[in-house]
Amino acid sequence: MRHFLNTADWSLPELQAMIADARAMKSAPQGAGQSTASGDALRGKTVALLFLNNSLRTRTSFDVGARQLGGHAVVLSPSGGMWPLEFEDGVVMDGDAEEHVKEAAKILSRYCDMIGVRAFPKFADWQEDRKDKILRAFAKYADVPVINMETITHPCQEMAHIMALQERLGDLEGKKFVLTWTYHPKPLNTAVANSALMIAAKFGMKPTLLCPTEEYVLDERYIEQASKDAGANGHALTISHDINEAYEGADVVYAKSWGALPFFGNWEPEKGIRDRCKHFIVNEDKMAMTNNALVSHCLPMRRNVKMTDAVFDSANCIAYDEAENRLHVQKAIMKALV
Ligand code: CP
Repeated sequence: MRHFLNTADWSLPELQAMIADARAMKSAPQGAGQSTASGDALRGKTVALLFLNNSLRTRTSFDVGARQLGGHAVVLSPSGGMWPLEFEDGVVMDGDAEEHVKEAAKILSRYCDMIGVRAFPKFADWQEDRKDKILRAFAKYADVPVINMETITHPCQEMAHIMALQERLGDLEGKKFVLTWTYHPKPLNTAVANSALMIAAKFGMKPTLLCPTEEYVLDERYIEQASKDAGANGHALTISHDINEAYEGADVVYAKSWGALPFFGNWEPEKGIRDRCKHFIVNEDKMAMTNNALVSHCLPMRRNVKMTDAVFDSANCIAYDEAENRLHVQKAIMKALV
């Protein structure tokens, strides 16, 4: 039994096969509840979708996707009345948690055929958050495949992004991919940034990480993975704090905001740096330095904070395609796992 926790666990041909399946399903569109065009790989099957954080796209696309494959989804969330869960092993459960993940994962496995998990970091201590304990606990105790619906990486988003890029650019080999940090009033998850860098490198692009200072460089685990994959393709990962250098000749610009890892649990000094870097916004002047680059964002996105209306609403923006592709690639992922 395999889980879908991180694209690094899957080979490039395996990921490309899922994207090919997603493209085939996309070319035969259908409404929810009609399983003919996509096959009925999930007929009679149920997917549990556990959301410990908010969602629009992930929740809707997994639910609709399961229905289109002939199955259905059960959405669980603390606000929906689920018992508070404990994720640590060997603890005395005398706090708020009423149920241990061991029981929850095993019981859900008896009712359901797959479990999706969304569990963002707590933002208090990156050394703790980087253990990805909630996702790992479900993978450890579940008797059915587990899908990462965004924890400290967001592999489903990566797949949708690559699919959208291939639709517009074809072969991605040697394309300059720029992941740019952007301002946001709050420190956000690094998951999409980690994922974007890894998948760009894995699919043969030349990745550049653009961020304001050294503190915003991503966790070494993802830097090393992206460097390794870029190296295997004859490229190198570039880390830059120079906006002009990074944008120059870019084929793809991917925008995301994230909180600096050394400041987890101590955000006041980080806010000072962040507030001085509002000029990292993706705008027309920066895009003019690129090789007529495609631009995207995982969404949700604050307009005219992270990216100007002019760029987001331009023909070069593929964010809507990427969001739509979540539906198609997640169907392919569920088919591969089931
Ligand atoms: N991009 C993404 O995962 O969107 P949601 O947070 O709305 O699910």
